[in-house]
Amino acid sequence: MMSALPLVREGLQLRPATRDDLAAIWEIERASFSTPWPPEYLEQQLGEGFVVLERAGRLVGYAVIGAKLPTFFARLEQRTRALLSGGLQPEPPLVAHILNIAVAPALRRQGLGRYLVQYALNYARRLGAARIELEVRTDNSTAIALYQRFGFHIQEIVPKYYSDGADAYLMVKALAPAEGSPNLRGYRDRAG
Ligand SMILES: CC(C)(COP(=O)(O)OP(=O)(O)OC[C@H]1O[C@@H](n2cnc3c(N)ncnc32)[C@H](O)[C@@H]1OP(=O)(O)O)[C@@H](O)C(=O)NCCC(=O)NCCS
Repeated sequence: MMSALPLVREGLQLRPATRDDLAAIWEIERASFSTPWPPEYLEQQLGEGFVVLERAGRLVGYAVIGAKLPTFFARLEQRTRALLSGGLQPEPPLVAHILNIAVAPALRRQGLGRYLVQYALNYARRLGAARIELEVRTDNSTAIALYQRFGFHIQEIVPKYYSDGADAYLMVKALAPAEGSPNLRGYRDRAG
């Protein structure tokens, strides 16, 4: 399990989420989303990629970040290319995914969301991800602006992505590899 990260500013700390945080997380979750993750689902997500942000001992936000291997077809295409070019077969690059980010409503517009996104990017790089992506409601201009500040761009619309029938944008950003990250070899040419 990841240990607490260094303080970035006095009183601000990121640490792994625990069961004891779930009530406070749920308060923020239901105030933040029209289709919130149910408490049981939040609990299932506890693990390495689920962090909470605390300020002066109070839980003020959280982020859930996952990672997955590319689809079977993406890997097949990569292998075929490697075979055709006679080159070495690179490691399949990981894709990181921001699954959830929220900040307590009363504490927004103070840079906490930016801090969580920056953490997600650093975490994804440490995992060795070549790319990071997320889905966001097409009408969530606040979050879209936040992600665009970090260089995410809209790749496509995902129709009816949310349980209430709302559409999502798939937003993506290519990542430069962190030194020593496990998949460094495979995506050096693609990172931006
Ligand atoms: C999106 C969210 C996490 C941003 O958190 P935050 O702490 O307010 O964000 P920050 O203060 O770090 O703002 C960073 C940038 O986001 C954008 N932004 C934030 N609030 C905004 C607003 N009300 N209108 C327009 N842009 C906004 C701006 O670019 C801002 O930078 P600036 O303050 O220098 O102009 C927060 O609004 C939230 O929890 N929303 C509900 C949950 C949600 O939509 N999550 C994203 C799901 S994909």
